[in-house]
Amino acid sequence: MILLGWRQMILLHGDAFKKQLKQKNQRISTLWRYIHQRTSGRLLDPEMRTFLEENTEIISSGNLTPEIKLRLLTPRCRFWYDRAALWPYREPYWAIYWPGGQGLARYLLDNPKVVRKKKVLDLGSGCGATAIAAVMSGAAEVVANDIDPVAGAAVMLNCELNNLSPFPVLTENLIGTETENWDLIVLGDMFYSEELADGLHQWLKKYAHNHGTRVLIGDPGRPHFVCHKIQRQLHKISEYPLTKSTEQENNGSTSTVVWHYQP
Ligand SMILES: C[S@@+](CC[C@H](N)C(=O)[O-])C[C@H]1O[C@@H](n2cnc3c(N)ncnc32)[C@H](O)[C@@H]1O
Repeated sequence: MILLGWRQMILLHGDAFKKQLKQKNQRISTLWRYIHQRTSGRLLDPEMRTFLEENTEIISSGNLTPEIKLRLLTPRCRFWYDRAALWPYREPYWAIYWPGGQGLARYLLDNPKVVRKKKVLDLGSGCGATAIAAVMSGAAEVVANDIDPVAGAAVMLNCELNNLSPFPVLTENLIGTETENWDLIVLGDMFYSEELADGLHQWLKKYAHNHGTRVLIGDPGRPHFVCHKIQRQLHKISEYPLTKSTEQENNGSTSTVVWHYQP
């Protein structure tokens, strides 16, 4: 297993990989605060920029939103194959454009009325594509949230790539907290563990009840999503067939669905 690149580690052995990286994650918390200070000031640390530029490739095909350019990890990048243990930060979920986010971004681009003039939170934003789609579709205010500060830096680069002013990226864990009022919360591929699914369900329920927030979830049928009790409160909005490459990378999932959560 140690010979696998980090990408295979995430896709095949998520939990084991997390344990291996526990120590690395402790070291990262200092870096985390540092980058957050820099990104919230809309300045990207030059070393981080260089690292991301050297270790990702600009992609605008092979997914559901070719109109959005993204820096992702591809077979032409060193860490696609290099040993996961050499990756200096926490596991880079942001370097994959997940099917859940792809479906949501496609839906927002095709249905701009859903976000136009709205205040939108993209929770678990990863590469930021769904948040970028919301900006492109005319949202009044967009905030991305990801607990990985390196994802925040990647989102800034992806805004630049798409000629957009960077929007705020919060790196706090918002789940369970009382934050601002949002017209819309979008979540792509966030139901990947039972604990996370339970926490999200409780938090989203409160948000929808207390603030009337609309909640859209993108998911390709992950086990922790399809088996969760949240299923009873979902209304299917749209389904998109995945591209061949996304299909192959996601254990044969063939489509991704956008759901409206209505508790
Ligand atoms: C599977 S990725 C999905 C990324 C993106 N939404 C997409 O569909 O491409 C999940 C992301 O959620 C982030 N994440 C995990 N727990 C989180 C939390 N409690 N709050 C915010 N982000 C979180 C991870 O760092 C990761 O970037």
